[in-house]
Amino acid sequence: MKPRIGVLTSGGDCPGLNAVLRGVVLAADKLGWEVLGFRDGFEGLLPPGDFVVLDRARIAGIMPRGGTVIGTTSRGHFVAKIGAGTKAIVAAEVIADARKVLAELGVRALIIVGGDGSMTTALQLQAAGINCVGVPKTIDNDLEATAMTFGFDSAVAVVMDALDRLHTTATSHKRVMVLEVMGRHAGWIALHGGIAGGAHIILIPEIPFHHDRIADAVRRRDARGSHGAIVVVAEGALPQDGQQMLHPTTSGEYRFGGVGESVALEIAARTGKETRCCVLGHLQRGGAPTTLDRILGTRFGVKAVQLINEDQYGSMVSYQNYQMQQVPIADAVNRLRLVPPDGQMVQTARAVEVSFGD
Ligand code: F6P
Repeated sequence: MKPRIGVLTSGGDCPGLNAVLRGVVLAADKLGWEVLGFRDGFEGLLPPGDFVVLDRARIAGIMPRGGTVIGTTSRGHFVAKIGAGTKAIVAAEVIADARKVLAELGVRALIIVGGDGSMTTALQLQAAGINCVGVPKTIDNDLEATAMTFGFDSAVAVVMDALDRLHTTATSHKRVMVLEVMGRHAGWIALHGGIAGGAHIILIPEIPFHHDRIADAVRRRDARGSHGAIVVVAEGALPQDGQQMLHPTTSGEYRFGGVGESVALEIAARTGKETRCCVLGHLQRGGAPTTLDRILGTRFGVKAVQLINEDQYGSMVSYQNYQMQQVPIADAVNRLRLVPPDGQMVQTARAVEVSFGD
């Protein structure tokens, strides 16, 4: 039997996941290894093991496809983090079962492609003797341990395209158009998408906003003869005198949403201008990955196989200084990379007359 490794994708789907899987399979094939793709995240590790052999035929043509061909979930038996950081311990018997399944299948090591919560689970598996290598995944691009994650560029491209389209109505109708985008804790998608899409106002969690300042910015544009305005608001944006808009779900998680509509109402009330809100939602996570995300995904996948070949377990692939490197998973979890309010990106946006509503 060929040496075997496993791979799973966990947490929210994200453009570029299939590029990672393809990179893993082709790099492993070169070493003469077989790859088992466990279905629906960690759940595939439950007895008797739900997996598919990822061979060349299975990965043919998957690179341009969004999502993940082996499925994913942010729920289930292995959830190790609830909401913005409350930790949970994965039940010892669940981990023991997973270890048994992997041992019986002869899986030498497991590549876990996931976000902060999935890496927290990976640490617990690693501590229980399962050889793990992490690949970071978040469209929010908010992990401190890697300069970039795949999926972010694709999400920003969708935001930019949406803004290009919203400009049309804003200009033609002299309206204010508000676009709510993803980003619970970090405003990277709003900031990059907003700059690329020529937004006039960008609201992010790191810079609390005030409705009066937003209205000032809209009025300033009006006074200059520019009667339309484009506002991008991250779902986690925070009013100076209010709260983030989050709603508890039945699973104990929080779902963000609604800040765009509330900003639109306040702008209309303060300026008298017709203001409309559009929520981009999961359109940002769907569809074909961009060039950059295909390349990043491929590099992350190939590097993960290299780390297994070097027995560097407990480490996560990290993109730093244009190179694929690695960091201990333990150093990567719980460290979010937020937008520095005085950083160059914010300064650049301000230089091109973007208001942050502060
Ligand atoms: O963390 C990535 C993310 O895309 C967030 O920006 C967003 O709030 C969340 O996932 C949505 O997740 P779900 O699809 O589970 O509602």
